[in-house]
Amino acid sequence: MKQRKKRLALLTSGGDAPGMNAAVRSCIRTALSESCDITGIMRGYSGLLEEDMHDLDTRSAGGIVYLGGTVLKTARCPAFMKDEFRRRAADILKKHQIDGLIVIGGDGSMAGAAELSALGISTVTIPGTIDNDMNGTDYTVGYDTAVNTALEAVRKIRDTASSHDRAALVEVMGRKAGHLALSIGIACGAEYVLVPEIPFDRDRLCGELQKQTALGRTNSIIICAEGAADGHELSRYIEDKTGIDMCTTILGYIQRGGSPSAKDSICAALLGEAAVHALLRGCTGHLVGMERQRVKIIPYEEADREKRSLDRKGWELVRRLSGMADESV
Ligand code: ADP
Ligand code: F6P
Repeated sequence: MKQRKKRLALLTSGGDAPGMNAAVRSCIRTALSESCDITGIMRGYSGLLEEDMHDLDTRSAGGIVYLGGTVLKTARCPAFMKDEFRRRAADILKKHQIDGLIVIGGDGSMAGAAELSALGISTVTIPGTIDNDMNGTDYTVGYDTAVNTALEAVRKIRDTASSHDRAALVEVMGRKAGHLALSIGIACGAEYVLVPEIPFDRDRLCGELQKQTALGRTNSIIICAEGAADGHELSRYIEDKTGIDMCTTILGYIQRGGSPSAKDSICAALLGEAAVHALLRGCTGHLVGMERQRVKIIPYEEADREKRSLDRKGWELVRRLSGMADESV
């Protein structure tokens, strides 16, 4: 009897990230090139539970490689935290004869994929989040684009801060991690980078800003990770304490959009191809990530064990290059 063609399924989950569509395109074209059928699941795990699924063909991958966001839409699905809904999702995948599921998302989405694996569904996860906070990979699709988007915004803010002799506080995303803030801080030459991983003393910050102002510094850039402090509240505190004129910008969702950078587009293409090939050779329950710019595939359990710590040398570099820590003055 002729064996049926393998059928893979694909979804994007959690916070969207630039490059997700490039990864979707890579998964589709690689699956088709391996004579597999491929099903798109809309809106992450929510769409899976609603069986919002449709066949994808080569035209589904056309004209999306440069688009931000995700054509499969995404969602956060609280129901998936409950075993009964995860079992229902597994049953739906089996009903649709899905031989393997590719999840593109962050650490939460990977946790969901791991739960499906435990229920007998072959899954792999492609790291897709602007936070770059996933254990087991040193890169997540969307991060480079988000850094560059924020950098462009901060340079504009520095123009007006220097024109008005203001200190600019810019709050950036990253959820509970400071990787995004740190990369933006190094790239823009920030005087300060505040990250959740390294506690800071706000009065000491005020003292250093006052000292630098007394030495003639007329403006500063403070990059504040959203997990480190509330940007508006901290700005008010600094202004009240020091009298320094502050301007505050919450970059917010601009960091999530935009056409993916070359780095994100290339990573997405590599990881999409690797994810399909991993599933087809039976390598399931794995994160398809990057290590030193090469694809690294590791079991979910191993990915969870590794903690993705902040690059403290990068944080010290910001301090050194800003001159704010210069005790000689
Ligand atoms: P991200 O994938 O970007 O980290 P979330 O943390 O919101 O975004 O996770 C995306 C979705 O994954 C959640 O809305 C939920 O449906 C599912 N999820 C998150 N954590 C778990 C978990 N521990 N177990 C099962 N599903 C989870
Ligand atoms: O995880 C990506 C991210 O952009 C975080 O940096 C941010 O804190 C969160 O998503 C915002 O979540 P939502 O899009 O649900 O508001």
